[in-house]
Amino acid sequence: PGVRPLIAGNWKMHGTLREATALAEAVQTGAKPGAELLVCPPFPYLVPVGGALAKGGVALGGQDCHAATKGAHTGDVAAPMLRDVGATYVILGHSERRADHGETDAVVRAKAEAALAAGLIPIVCVGESEAQRLAGEAEPVVTGQLAGSLPDGFAAAGGVVAYEPVWAIGTGRTPTEPDIAAIHAAIRGNLESRFSEAGSALRILYGGSVKPGNAASILALAHVDGALVGGASLVAADFLAIAAGV
Ligand code: G3H
Repeated sequence: PGVRPLIAGNWKMHGTLREATALAEAVQTGAKPGAELLVCPPFPYLVPVGGALAKGGVALGGQDCHAATKGAHTGDVAAPMLRDVGATYVILGHSERRADHGETDAVVRAKAEAALAAGLIPIVCVGESEAQRLAGEAEPVVTGQLAGSLPDGFAAAGGVVAYEPVWAIGTGRTPTEPDIAAIHAAIRGNLESRFSEAGSALRILYGGSVKPGNAASILALAHVDGALVGGASLVAADFLAIAAGV
């Protein structure tokens, strides 16, 4: 209650320059009052997408950043660089980063500290694997990831948590609504016990096969304060339809 929902599009490694700017323009043109909208394009498209969003109303974010502010880190991007090109958010610890690049909770935490220092709002992703879910370990896995990944300054800066069960990403499968609600309640409890009152106001996003057809009922669940959308964020009409469901 009182928290403005955030609908974030993670474009991952998709699209051409022309497609990225057209998508950004379509999202901005179609944006309605209600949810805060965010798009996170691939790094090469941040500047042109930022230009396409210049009229305002849709925020820009990165999909990752390095823990250092600068240095000899070939291929990496620093948090101040993202801020410099107009990003206000950065996704960190996505399961694809954890899997493809071996990012541990400690690495994610260091990146989140760098994001905070640069004035970016980190969106820290957590979520269990299918084996962990089947073993009944979803909740301890997620709370363990929170303990390891969130820096102390997270709540004061309005950090965002994204709960993404790994097995629900890009699969068309989602947890049941009671299962989503249970994990979001556990995340809320964890945030409140660590950050006291500030933890009550932080946004907790659900991610994993969010589509126009399931978004409204997921977004209506307690402690679901928005969505982190992958595939459906690549189609402006679908992304906007999801946002209309808040
Ligand atoms: O960051 C977004 C998520 O990984 C969800 O992806 O909506 O394609 O399942 P998806």
